[in-house]
Amino acid sequence: MRKLIAANWKMNTMPEGALGADSPYRPQSTIDVVVFSTFFDLKSCIDSGLTCGGQYGRAEEKGAFTGDISMAMLKRAGAMYVLCGHSERRRYHEESIAQIGEQLKAALDCGLTPILCIGESEDDNELQRTETVLTDQLKTYTLDKRVIVAYEPVWAIGSGKTPTSAEIATTHAFLRSLAGKDIRLLYGGSVSAKNAAEILSLPNVDGALVGGASLKPAQFAQIVSAGAQ
Ligand code: PGA
Repeated sequence: MRKLIAANWKMNTMPEGALGADSPYRPQSTIDVVVFSTFFDLKSCIDSGLTCGGQYGRAEEKGAFTGDISMAMLKRAGAMYVLCGHSERRRYHEESIAQIGEQLKAALDCGLTPILCIGESEDDNELQRTETVLTDQLKTYTLDKRVIVAYEPVWAIGSGKTPTSAEIATTHAFLRSLAGKDIRLLYGGSVSAKNAAEILSLPNVDGALVGGASLKPAQFAQIVSAGAQ
């Protein structure tokens, strides 16, 4: 399966040089590179030829929802992807499973490719409940092959900690058995220039969702080239 490397810049200004001719955030021939900028930077990224997505999109098309942006608006602006249910949205915006399900449906209805983020908490991981939690999270959504699933252990995001390669491989094999062969499975959580080559070479890892390291163009370039191997 063609690999996908996603840069999630979160609430940060775009890195210097991101729009330049030799930017590592530009589309590549052998691998998909997708940028999730703030909504503020989205239009300039799209206009300079980057493949972009929204970090969030609301299911309703328009209306009295101060501070929000709709899936339809993202699509009209030229976005191709959208993150659904990132753990920071679940945590800081208390997004519910029902809302995330509606977002997923709205994204598909308007032609965006949703990246559905799932992952277990540190407690669940310690109690070895990862597979139960992931099963529960996945079974609430209708997956079709346009959906991409990102496995992001909540405790690995922004912490510098990752599961071992063996653990990632086991969890991704489990997700493959749940999601089927057509769904792209990304790993996310403290992916760096150091660990990318190993993580991206694991079976059933079809790409990575990268936060912190995606803000550093030189590091991101190494992650992209690891994925292109
Ligand atoms: P991180 O973030 O790479 O900084 O851990 C990943 C994410 O939140 O998608």
